[in-house]
Amino acid sequence: MPSITTRALLEMKEKGERIVALTCYDALFARLLDATGVDILLVGDSLNQVLAGAPSTLSATLEQMIYHTTMVRRGTEHALVVCDMPFLTYQVSPEQALTNCGRAMKDSGCHAVKLEGGQTMAPTVRRLVEVGIPVMGHIGLTPQSVHALGGYRVQGRDEATAERLKADAAALQDAGAFAIVLELVPAALASQISKALTIPTIGIGAGPACDGQVLVLHDMLGLNDQFSAKFVKKYAALAEDVREAARVYAAEVREGRYPGPEHSFGK
Ligand code: KIV
Repeated sequence: MPSITTRALLEMKEKGERIVALTCYDALFARLLDATGVDILLVGDSLNQVLAGAPSTLSATLEQMIYHTTMVRRGTEHALVVCDMPFLTYQVSPEQALTNCGRAMKDSGCHAVKLEGGQTMAPTVRRLVEVGIPVMGHIGLTPQSVHALGGYRVQGRDEATAERLKADAAALQDAGAFAIVLELVPAALASQISKALTIPTIGIGAGPACDGQVLVLHDMLGLNDQFSAKFVKKYAALAEDVREAARVYAAEVREGRYPGPEHSFGK
């Protein structure tokens, strides 16, 4: 059992305590992050772009997600580990979702799954929750629908979309979701949605009023310097550290300065 349960997240919202979430794709980073007390480690299908170099999340597979989530679970004791369900592993029918989300939980040991979509996904969320699979929702900019949405754009700037997002959030809560990711939503709308719900909202590019925040780890560490966005704050500049370490190593190898006697074995 993780220290952070879905019930603990609800209590945090009730007490006004902010929830800290980060994406994580492997055991090494999971161990580092878990030790800092991060509440949620989300094994996002963004790994298909960040690690695998694909142009979008669309080609991520269930096998990939299970493999990475298994690694993250091995490095985690405290945080709630959420496995992001990839495109077309849950949209076809509630039964398909049940089979694949059940497999993700059984094979990876994750504590919950995340699905994209609002009102149309509510029956699926209800079915999963009924059989004991905790579900995190995800609305606003839903990257698996990037082509239908016409790009990675802020959602809910017009009245009709804003009203639909409010109804989506309410439908997911009614269906039993334990939290909802709000991605790329105007801050005022995210605030209204967060106030209207009893379950926590986890924002990414959705302003400061959400009940928690999530960022892609490699973005906030400054490791993925191919990507930048207004909402990403870089808390480190690791891409440059990696390049500099590799440059120094290469120079020392080429000049015969590494390995030194302290790195070499005697008889
Ligand atoms: O895949 C992912 O990393 C996500 C987060 C950006 C919320 O869904």
